[in-house]
Amino acid sequence: MTVSIRPLHPMFCGEVDGVDLTCALTQEEVAAIEAGMDEYAVLVFHDQNITDEQQLDFSRNFGTLELPGAASNITKTKDRRLRAELADVSNLNRDHKPFDRDDRHRMFNLGNRLWHSDSSFRAVPAKYSLLSGRIVSKSGGNTEFADMRAAYNALDDRTKAEIEDLVCEHSLLYSRGKLGFDALSEEEIANFKPVRQKLVRTHPVTGRKSLYLSAHIGKIIGWPTPEARVLIQDLTEDATRPEFVHSHKWRQYDLVMWDNRQVMHRVRRFDDVAEVRDMRRTTIAGEEMTVEQAA
Ligand code: OGA
Ligand code: MN
Repeated sequence: MTVSIRPLHPMFCGEVDGVDLTCALTQEEVAAIEAGMDEYAVLVFHDQNITDEQQLDFSRNFGTLELPGAASNITKTKDRRLRAELADVSNLNRDHKPFDRDDRHRMFNLGNRLWHSDSSFRAVPAKYSLLSGRIVSKSGGNTEFADMRAAYNALDDRTKAEIEDLVCEHSLLYSRGKLGFDALSEEEIANFKPVRQKLVRTHPVTGRKSLYLSAHIGKIIGWPTPEARVLIQDLTEDATRPEFVHSHKWRQYDLVMWDNRQVMHRVRRFDDVAEVRDMRRTTIAGEEMTVEQAA
């Protein structure tokens, strides 16, 4: 079958047809999906009842896997529900039961309800994320995406000039701090050491510029912190206005793939103490830093 993509939104997001993720892909299929990602930044594949192994095989077509771990989470290896290569984006503990309301893993994971770009807190931030909906919530739990290219284009020239060379500090400490979650050990704090990222980035293939925003931002280098936070807050508000946003309502066995260099995303509320939502993510490592710094 040939890969075809139907637009889901006037600016970005496409629905893919003609691909079976349980099978090895041809070079042509991989190229068509990559080209679709460059253009749409978010692709939706329906009815993909895949195993973890198949998700990993499909993901490896697009680059090197980024491994979750102490740099991106508070979950200890012994408490992991999934194998090391998969980020567990579910609301489930090792026994496949929803976390208790006051479980600190749940508190930490609530950070995904803030607009963010995956792994922007790593010196080399992520390229793609691939999220597989194994069990989806009955109501709520949509994943929303915002087009950061459109958000950049919509800025006035003065703002574009003002932010062109700005560099931000990103850390999980900042995104979790916004939720009032600061019950972290010294080891966790050390793992979440801030990194630097450009605020405006250019896509390596299309040359399009985008705003590199994320809830993980806490500072702008050289700026007073409140002034930095208020600018980031303003930019985020403008960048996530309804016309730039697509909301994905999950069907079981959807796989949604997004380019973290071009979009932000967040998950919406659902009854995560009662309902099971089993979401598993593979992540493709980025190829470069946006600012030179120690890795
Ligand atoms: C993620 C994420 C949103 C969701 O997988 O990176 O933020 O819908 N998930 O669970
Ligand atoms: Mn995410």
